[in-house]
Amino acid sequence: MEKNFKRTLITTALPYANGPVHIGHLAGVYVPADIYARYLRMKGDDVIMVGGSDEHGVPITLKARKEGVTPQDIVDRYHAIIRDSMHELGISFDVYGRTTSETHNKTASEFFRRLYDNDKFIVKTSQQPYDEKAGEFLADRYVVGTCPRCGKDGAYGDQCEACGSSLSATELINPRSALTDSPVTMKETTHWYLPLDRYENALKQWILEGHKEWKTNVYGQCKSWLDLGLQPRAVSRDLKWGVPVPVEGADDKVLYVWFDAPIGYISNTKDLLPDSWEKYWKDPETRVINFIGKDNIVFHCIVFPAMLMAYGDNFQLPDNVPANEFLNLEGDKISTSRNWAVWLHEYLRDFPGRQDTLRYVLTANAPETKDNDFTWADFQARSNNELVAILGNFVNRAVVLTHKYFDGIVPEPGQPEPIDIKLREEVKEAVSRMSAAIDTFHFREALKDMMEIARIGNRYLQETEPWKVAKTDMERVRTILYHAIELCGNLAAAMEPFMPFSSRKLADMLRIDRLDWSMADKDQTVAPGTALAPAELLFEKIDDETIQGQLDRLERIKKENVIRNFKPEPQAADVDFDTFAKSDIRVGTVLECSKVKKASKLLKFLIDDGMEKRTIVSGIAAYYQPEDLIGKQVCFISNLPPRKLMGIESQGMILSAVNADGSLVVIGPTAPVVPGAQVK
Ligand code: MF3
Ligand code: ZN
Repeated sequence: MEKNFKRTLITTALPYANGPVHIGHLAGVYVPADIYARYLRMKGDDVIMVGGSDEHGVPITLKARKEGVTPQDIVDRYHAIIRDSMHELGISFDVYGRTTSETHNKTASEFFRRLYDNDKFIVKTSQQPYDEKAGEFLADRYVVGTCPRCGKDGAYGDQCEACGSSLSATELINPRSALTDSPVTMKETTHWYLPLDRYENALKQWILEGHKEWKTNVYGQCKSWLDLGLQPRAVSRDLKWGVPVPVEGADDKVLYVWFDAPIGYISNTKDLLPDSWEKYWKDPETRVINFIGKDNIVFHCIVFPAMLMAYGDNFQLPDNVPANEFLNLEGDKISTSRNWAVWLHEYLRDFPGRQDTLRYVLTANAPETKDNDFTWADFQARSNNELVAILGNFVNRAVVLTHKYFDGIVPEPGQPEPIDIKLREEVKEAVSRMSAAIDTFHFREALKDMMEIARIGNRYLQETEPWKVAKTDMERVRTILYHAIELCGNLAAAMEPFMPFSSRKLADMLRIDRLDWSMADKDQTVAPGTALAPAELLFEKIDDETIQGQLDRLERIKKENVIRNFKPEPQAADVDFDTFAKSDIRVGTVLECSKVKKASKLLKFLIDDGMEKRTIVSGIAAYYQPEDLIGKQVCFISNLPPRKLMGIESQGMILSAVNADGSLVVIGPTAPVVPGAQVK
């Protein structure tokens, strides 16, 4: 059952301003939201798209501590980077606010205060993690320890990033303070709780009965939460960074970040429309759509709606919450802390003018129903084989041929032939499929239908062959190229939500000032007699070198991570001195070094050991070119019994250090010594 709406409020999850945004944020939230917003605007709907930075929460204060700056410094830095890079990608927010704004502070305080005054909270006193040394409570991520579910160390007091479980600080094994690394003690404190259980029935009614059309991942998560039964949830924290709890005697307490952040949607709407914001929130004829990632589902479908119910005053619940799954990068989970990401601001620096390529690839690969993988090989293939070879190629052929045969003046068509009529029908079908797909948040499907228009165009030119017909029938060529240009006009409109920059470039070539959605399947998008602008390439190929540069960067990051995560082996049991002293370790000079035939791991050394020459075979061929070792001094154990390796007698063992990634580095003296010198 489709309701009729007068306007749409699109919200996009507010990214934490503790780092830049990456392709996972974009594919999950901002690109799909932008497609939807642009599409509705093209249709002439009343729509606003609200975004902003989420500037509270423990990750921000932790980062500030680590860098020795204030939380405000951190959010100022990342808010600017996020805002500017999203703008450059063409994400068309009507407002991009921040939760440290004055408006937000007031709005969030007032919201809490109204719930407080109307007895919508319960107060509970409980034991909470405390750091005696720092004299501070340890909210959420301030507690680290071992995950009780997967056993990995480094889990946080609210979540384990390794296995994704949500946790509470008291469940962690061996909990420590992120401030001082000291063990956690417990101390009594009082907080306000929103009793979600009071809203359980209303939420069940609203979602489980009323929104069966929601995506299965969203509906399913809601159902399992609701089936488990809801508990009261604390909405305040003992922290200094955040919106102060607006109640007497609540010093050093702030609103929980997940209480204040979604109110940010309201605050930012107020900043955009100080006088008319209410109609986007409180009028039943407004439709609210929340674009989020899957980790945000419970907050948007359960907690925030319960807050809005508690507040009353006609606040509208979301009509849909098209949450996406996650995007991985080259087979690994994207992670800010491991720097395993393609950062938007870096992409824009490395690929100037290629915003649409990224938008296209992220949409084509969007994790709509399952987690998906971004690979640079796929990025290059989609760019070169789809954008360049299909879309760009069609537009280029149509415009270049019009210049060639008609000096760029769009010709007057003659009587249409069946193939021309079929062309128009096919376009209309593709566009109607595309609209239906966007209406139901199936943006990947919609993108395919958009590309189908270009494919239809290529087939049309292939079948009609105007370059051949030109030798005999210029009248027919007029009709063909008229239709080809007409189709370019359709494309310019159909592309806009997905690839606004290329859409504009194409529209400029066709001298179309304003695009609207009706043009996507309209006949005669460009009037005969129009003088086209010179042909310009919409897309250019991305070469192997550029892609290799990105892959090399990821390789470097992997190495850095291995080294950062290196944990030395626990120390071996004590050995008495005499036992140790029995090993005779010496320095020798490498006289010869060569690969051992049929043994890819082995190198054969001839060593000057000060007495005579000795042969040693060592398994380090993967890490050295033999010639690079000649003349070097190495340490070796001289009094091991000789041993045969691949038929060669090895008279000792060369010492190497084992690096974090398992690679070996030969050990030698830091200054030249006489061959045969003993290592003591
Ligand atoms: N900052 C949160 C995140 O990145 C999202 C907040 S969405 C809002 O997961 F609704 F709370 F604003
Ligand atoms: Zn875990």
